[in-house]
Amino acid sequence: MLYRRTYLEIDLSKIRQNIRIHKSMLKSDDSILAVVKADGYGHGSVPVLKAALEEGVVWAGISSVEEAIILRNAGIEVPILLLGGWYPEAIPAFFCYSITPSLYSIELAKKLNEYAKSINTPIKVHVKLETGMGRLGFTKDQLNDFINAKNELDYLVIDGVYSHLSSADESDTTFSEEQSVKFHQMVHMLKENFPINWIHIANSAGISQLSSDRGNLFRLGISMYGQAPAPNLTKPLNLSEAITWKSSICHLQWFPPNYPIGYGRTYCTDKKTLIGTVAVGYADGYSRSLSNVSQVLVHGKRAPVVGTICMDMLMIDVSNIEDVEAFDEVVLIGKQGEDKISATEMANWINTINYEITCNISSRVPRKYIN
Ligand SMILES: Cc1ncc(COP(=O)(O)O)c(C=O)c1O
Repeated sequence: MLYRRTYLEIDLSKIRQNIRIHKSMLKSDDSILAVVKADGYGHGSVPVLKAALEEGVVWAGISSVEEAIILRNAGIEVPILLLGGWYPEAIPAFFCYSITPSLYSIELAKKLNEYAKSINTPIKVHVKLETGMGRLGFTKDQLNDFINAKNELDYLVIDGVYSHLSSADESDTTFSEEQSVKFHQMVHMLKENFPINWIHIANSAGISQLSSDRGNLFRLGISMYGQAPAPNLTKPLNLSEAITWKSSICHLQWFPPNYPIGYGRTYCTDKKTLIGTVAVGYADGYSRSLSNVSQVLVHGKRAPVVGTICMDMLMIDVSNIEDVEAFDEVVLIGKQGEDKISATEMANWINTINYEITCNISSRVPRKYIN
């Protein structure tokens, strides 16, 4: 039962369909890692991953031990790769919850090996390489040091090696291809010394953009949710957004011309105006920066957001919406009638990216799953 009509509708059939589209672009022995960090980019990590597993996805990627524990407690059994940075205190949890950490520093490698040895349990790791992201990863020299030190680090099993593209969303793919070349040179250094099961560099945009050798595992994030990974992909995909963000008008009121609306009186009516108050605000993740900028859909038509967005409510001008009534549905992201507002369009209004829009939809907005 919803007492407040603000919720996300997540269509899991779209998640499955988007995965199938990507699989058709891969070789038959390639595999997919579903990136479900940040609670599945706001969509809900567990239901999304369960849908992804039905499509043959074999790995899950998260960014913290806490996120991995949520998956394990939900009965997820596939290998989980910790994509984020981690701290020594996380080490026992890697063993308890069967988490594969990324390895990007000798110092952490030593600590991890020491613990593994102390409980006499080897641990699989994915070695992360620095190729142009400037975030986490061994540089070439550090990789050399690691290879030289590996004899001593005998409880670490190198299951995979990977890197991350910094610019796969650019239509000019030169930098990504350069990263890929550096990556494969470094992978070669490792492969000469150790057998490696998984080699991966491509994220969503990389899957369609990279032409060179791309490894055998693909880390699918934003495109799995049906969001465009970049505005100008050279090969656009026919993806479907899984998310629809709905709310409702909780009150309607006519105001005379020259009447102030909302905190700080940032909007003033220029004519007799019908204002709808909508039960969603910045505490739900509807950014305050969208004040006087964004639009919503009512009866399949666009209504502008007017005045400053409040914590729990926002106001829209519905003067031009025929037959509008209190309690009518409002679509913030998604399709209504013939029109659609995508997370990407919302992101463009405030100069951010679709990733941030869906990740920021707060946990107080209930998620409803269909299909
Ligand atoms: C290391 C890593 N791999 C893969 C992804 C997925 O990227 P995308 O959502 O663009 O597919 C991310 C997302 O930020 C990431 O940090």
